[in-house]
Amino acid sequence: MAAKTDKDHYIINGGNPLRGEVVIGGAKNAALAIIAASVMTDETVTIENIPDVRDTNVMMEAMEGIGVKIKRLDRHTIEVNGSQVENVNIDTENIRKIRASYYLLGALLGKYRHAEVPLPGGCDIGSRPIDQHVKGFKALGSKVSIERGIMKATADRLSAAHIYMDVVTVGATINVMLSSVLAEGKTIIENAAKEPHVVDVANFLNSMGANIKGAGTDVIRIRGVERLHSCTYSVIPDQIEAGTFMYAAAITGGDILVRNVIPKHLESISAKLEEIGCNIEEFDDAVRVTASGRLQPTHIKTLPYPGYPTDMQPQAGVALALADGVSTITESIFENRFKYVDELTRMGANIRVEGNTAIIDGVEGFTGAHISAPDLRAGASLVLAALAADGATVIDNVRLIERGYEDFDEKIRALGGDIIKTADVKQEIKKSKFKVVG
Ligand code: UD1
Repeated sequence: MAAKTDKDHYIINGGNPLRGEVVIGGAKNAALAIIAASVMTDETVTIENIPDVRDTNVMMEAMEGIGVKIKRLDRHTIEVNGSQVENVNIDTENIRKIRASYYLLGALLGKYRHAEVPLPGGCDIGSRPIDQHVKGFKALGSKVSIERGIMKATADRLSAAHIYMDVVTVGATINVMLSSVLAEGKTIIENAAKEPHVVDVANFLNSMGANIKGAGTDVIRIRGVERLHSCTYSVIPDQIEAGTFMYAAAITGGDILVRNVIPKHLESISAKLEEIGCNIEEFDDAVRVTASGRLQPTHIKTLPYPGYPTDMQPQAGVALALADGVSTITESIFENRFKYVDELTRMGANIRVEGNTAIIDGVEGFTGAHISAPDLRAGASLVLAALAADGATVIDNVRLIERGYEDFDEKIRALGGDIIKTADVKQEIKKSKFKVVG
């Protein structure tokens, strides 16, 4: 639980269209796997463009807890040295809270043939099985057990395997890559996830001396090497942070130049924004989104990359809740990703959820209310709703948003949004211009 003094609330006064430029940071989900993977060599690895968010900091603290030396060269650059790992048993309270803790299992198993890590937590967005990770580790010759919430993987030797993933999973694809780069022989992963961060992790491992081919396609081939070595690597830009600011322009009727992005990674998002009436301009490493007039309805189904990302589903839900007509969103990756709907309903949205589909009847506007961030992406999306709402909105639990967005409130303020972060909502309301809190 957050301490009472934590600034865990936003107060947002809606109505300003967001305009200007925003610079996107490194991809959280790539960084988490890359930080974990950096222990796989005894030499020092330099990683640039790490986002300074809660999840990456929790990951680094957990690694320091087992003897990994991490030097922070500046806010976004670290040096990692994994030569003095004291044990391969990670058990800190925090690591249970992040999903990506399981990457330490693949990385430590690959390097030391033994790892013990608490079962992963992360956002409560539905059942999140790890059977495909277990299947991959076992196929490589590891024994896997779960005792008292700790997952243990042990192997005398790891040898190559031909692994068919039963579902397309980012986590298991990366974990099998991690545990097989130092295995004997050539591992093949079929039905692999193709997300940009899968490719980024493969590129990172290759720059440490691994031999991985095919990342970004359905079939990844990993020829085991004897050892990995030092490298300097820069994490790719965060596709989801970028997409969130693109939707910020759409939802507030603004005009935002989203800088330091790879436009190719944003194509499914840009295409939907165009469909709902936004204007998109692509540059080499930037995308500009301009919106004016009422948004148009559409239909969205979340899918593995290059389909429309599940992590961009709540942002779309907020935009479509303001569209001129009826839209549908079908969530095919995680079953519990509509938790923002109840909060958005309190702001005046008209949405019905039936199974894994939300039927959204657009309204002309939202009104401010006192709401709570249910999870990381849903929380960020509710901030966008509040920025477009009439009056003031208080959002609790913003630490969940800070798991994945660096300086979210500051970046919004720089674009003209009226947002403050506070530990004491009552005090702030008393002394400030915030008038309406429903
Ligand atoms: C990662 C991202 C998360 C994103 C998701 C999908 C991180 C830390 N998190 O989560 O933000 O929403 O990818 O892009 O990178 N599944 C199984 N068995 C398994 C593993 C997964 O059935 O062993 C299922 C899941 O329940 C889900 C689907 O596969 O339905 C995709 O999950 P996966 O891609 O693994 O998501 P995560 O890696 O957990």
